[in-house]
Amino acid sequence: MSNVFSPLPADVPSIRVTDIKRSYVSGKITNNVLKGNTFDLYPGKLTLIMGPSGSGKSTLLSVISGLLKPDNGRVEINGINLWNLSFRKIEKFRLDHFGFIFQGFNLFDSLTAREQILVLLKYLHSSEKEAYAIADEVLDEVGLSKVKHLRPAQLSGGEKQRVAIARALAKKPAFLFADEPTSALDKENGQIVISLLHKAAKIHNATIFAVSHDPRLLPHADRVITIEDGTITRDQNGGVQQ
Ligand SMILES: Nc1ncnc2c1ncn2[C@@H]1O[C@H](COP(=O)(O)OP(=O)(O)O)[C@@H](O)[C@H]1O
Ligand SMILES: [Mg+2]
Repeated sequence: MSNVFSPLPADVPSIRVTDIKRSYVSGKITNNVLKGNTFDLYPGKLTLIMGPSGSGKSTLLSVISGLLKPDNGRVEINGINLWNLSFRKIEKFRLDHFGFIFQGFNLFDSLTAREQILVLLKYLHSSEKEAYAIADEVLDEVGLSKVKHLRPAQLSGGEKQRVAIARALAKKPAFLFADEPTSALDKENGQIVISLLHKAAKIHNATIFAVSHDPRLLPHADRVITIEDGTITRDQNGGVQQ
């Protein structure tokens, strides 16, 4: 599997989720959070998981992205059974193929927008020349070329999230996971961020799985899965037919 975005054709599922169950146990109390979720995701599509707070969205994202082991069920990524891999292999798989975007941006205070990306690329063993070229390319893709020398304190919330998107795109991941990527942003910046993610799905044929409770994002999704109390209750524009 290449990590230069997704090689799969649009009609082959890139992620297959089968009968996922997950509970949290605390003392004698068991909270059954995910109650048997099954669905396929496709490359080139932005799928939005909507649902009220506490419905299990973040738990589902964590299970699919290799962060939290399910109690039951399978997650297949390009045909690989993710939870059958060793801890080490899952970590490597995530590093090679997954990009993450979170509500809180997770940027280093002391680094410029460009350096946030250069640091990651250095860690991934890119050459210096290649790292600069990629950093500038992804910053251009999210419309931040003019502010690449600024640090987080000098950037707006929307710009910070765009840096986080650029950083996620820099390793050309076939899969992008976003947990409430717009909830710290105003309406306009939220729209910019979600449309950038949508564009990334189209341009790079990436599979994008975004979690949100913000209905303003609905128009920007290719598909909307609704989860309530750990069960999928609606699946609109599912699959590749649209
Ligand atoms: N680490 C945890 N330990 C115990 N319970 C948790 C943990 N994370 C989430 N939960 C519980 O699981 C339920 C679903 O949480 P979550 O997946 O974060 O929902 P959402 O992202 O939709 O708000 C909630 O009742 C929450 O309190
Ligand atoms: Mg959540």
